[in-house]
Amino acid sequence: MGYFKNIKLNCFRNFNELQLEFSDKCNVFFGKNGCGKTNLLEELSLCTKGRGIRKDKITNFIKKDQNSFSNIAYFINENIEYQIKVITDLKNKKLQKKILLNNEFSSEVNKKIQSLITYLIYLPENERMFIASPTTRRNFFDHFIYSSNKKYNTLINFYKKNVYERNVILNDINFDETWLTKIEENISNSGIEIYKNRKMQADLFVKNLDNISKYFNTKFKVTLEINDPFYNENLNIEKYMISLRKCRAIDKIVGGTKIGPHKSDYIFFVDKNYPASQLSTGQQKTLVLLLYFSQCNYLVNICSKKPILLLDEISSHLDDTNTQLLLKIVNQFDMQVFMTGTNKDLFSFLSTNTNFYNISNK
Ligand SMILES: Nc1ncnc2c1ncn2[C@@H]1O[C@H](COP(=O)(O)OP(=O)(O)OP(=O)(O)O)[C@@H](O)[C@H]1O
Ligand SMILES: [Mg+2]
Repeated sequence: MGYFKNIKLNCFRNFNELQLEFSDKCNVFFGKNGCGKTNLLEELSLCTKGRGIRKDKITNFIKKDQNSFSNIAYFINENIEYQIKVITDLKNKKLQKKILLNNEFSSEVNKKIQSLITYLIYLPENERMFIASPTTRRNFFDHFIYSSNKKYNTLINFYKKNVYERNVILNDINFDETWLTKIEENISNSGIEIYKNRKMQADLFVKNLDNISKYFNTKFKVTLEINDPFYNENLNIEKYMISLRKCRAIDKIVGGTKIGPHKSDYIFFVDKNYPASQLSTGQQKTLVLLLYFSQCNYLVNICSKKPILLLDEISSHLDDTNTQLLLKIVNQFDMQVFMTGTNKDLFSFLSTNTNFYNISNK
């Protein structure tokens, strides 16, 4: 099992310098609002590709009035210790995030890091997932898919880049028809792949939740509806391209692409078409926790991957059922977990295996 042994921050967000040693099981950052708990989860999330849990700009990671940050983490996997250094790097006058593994930097190194670390992240907005905007639900799906399929983000980025490119071309009076058709072909290919991945994830949720809710003796019988008038299982590249071609005129006027997986929504139902959005806040939390449990179960037992769990402000709306559910997530899979909360007492249900860190804004 891979886990972070420690981290050392330098000029990152609100921290000048901070060094923490971790438990390979459960770690809780507690302290008052604004002390830097989420910043610590963010730092961990930056140890792999991407802009971290907040998808923020690199300049915002650097402590105010400083020029760069440099964070070092030690990660252990199968008894081998790896140094992961996350630093700022100036390339073509542009500030970038750079990750060094044992002081080496290359695309192989990046792949190695990707294979070493998988995150499963819970953000406070996930609690409101069923009543939030479709974007929140799509991001939730995409994050879960990415946890089992590292190539998925490249697919999403490729799709978004081509959708953007199409919008630019449509607004150009002298656009090149061949080029536009090529872009629409790219959109159709990647769009169908995204739909397939999302459908697989939806089926996985329903299948796993069915097993798991029996195991937890919860009342939920979950079904999931993909809300997207354009999508059906017979959609193919040809049909997709024809539809895009037909939408060109309207898309040019509205300045966007009307159809595709960036417009899908995923509606969860419990008990005979009763939408999850109608459940109480705490019941919605139960369902969200069940989804995390089902994904951990899938990653660990089917994909043989142990994710690192980053759970930001998970401690609200925890009655006995939800506390037991969270405990199961934390204890059952032998994964390293990081949680945040304003008060240590909120985590009194955790075992003695937990390290607590009182974070103060130094
Ligand atoms: N680049 C930066 N330089 C200095 N301070 C920063 C920087 N970026 C963010 N901060 C500050 O870091 C502080 C801690 O933020 P963080 O979101 O981690 O707090 P938190 O402990 O999670 O609080 P809450 O309990 O409210 O969620 C905030 O006051 C924020 O303004
Ligand atoms: Mg926070």
